[in-house]
Amino acid sequence: MKHTITFLSLILFSISLQGQTGDVIKLNPPSTDKGHSIMKSLWVRSSTRAYSPGELSLQDLSDLVWAAVGINRPESKKLTSPTAQNSQDVILYVCRPDGTYLYNSADHCLIQVNKTDLRPFMEGERSTKAHTILLLVADISKYRGYAAGSPNNKHYYEMGAVDCGIVSQNIALFCAGMGLGTVPRAQMNKAAIKDELKLTDTQYLWLNHPVGYLKEK
Ligand SMILES: Cc1cc2nc3c(=O)[nH]c(=O)nc-3n(C[C@H](O)[C@H](O)[C@H](O)COP(=O)(O)O)c2cc1C
Repeated sequence: MKHTITFLSLILFSISLQGQTGDVIKLNPPSTDKGHSIMKSLWVRSSTRAYSPGELSLQDLSDLVWAAVGINRPESKKLTSPTAQNSQDVILYVCRPDGTYLYNSADHCLIQVNKTDLRPFMEGERSTKAHTILLLVADISKYRGYAAGSPNNKHYYEMGAVDCGIVSQNIALFCAGMGLGTVPRAQMNKAAIKDELKLTDTQYLWLNHPVGYLKEK
């Protein structure tokens, strides 16, 4: 009887752990000087859809998310990627087998928001099997002047798409410069992802970027 109770307690404990979110991955400070020159990066950039298996090192992951939407001017809290009105409307999620993490640029850390593997919703027929997929969402409620039902919202919707495109190119050039592979992808199961991440109606899913180390040629 005592063993049964202990066993049941262990099961309940592990179930509650599985449901737990809010775990934080503390990232390394972003590198200050690394990778190819900007010209070489432009020469080698291309979309790649096959990577070596395995996850990114903590340093590469830290540099990657910082390159996307990290703070590069602490005094003004401005970012590596420009945004219309400096709205900073792009939300960056890091999707991995153990769940989804939100990049917090102010604290340069990843905060777990769910324990669901969302990657299958982004992998179609040409699956990359990447361990890490970045997901770009624009939140138009971040714009000065946004108001529910306002005709201006179409403009903010368009600016959100543009801002995600700029972040996408930061990611692509970072990857090209660091010997990593990536591809911007618009195709994904948006309804399923929106549901899993509990996105609001002002938060639009635009692109995802699988990222991995290039295969040896
Ligand atoms: C806005 C946008 C959406 C894209 N969506 C997808 C996609 O859903 N799936 C995919 O495999 N590639 C996607 N791509 C990658 C393009 O197919 C790729 O950039 C194009 O073939 C040119 O190749 P390159 O990037 O190597 O120059 C997308 C690219 C852009 C810019």
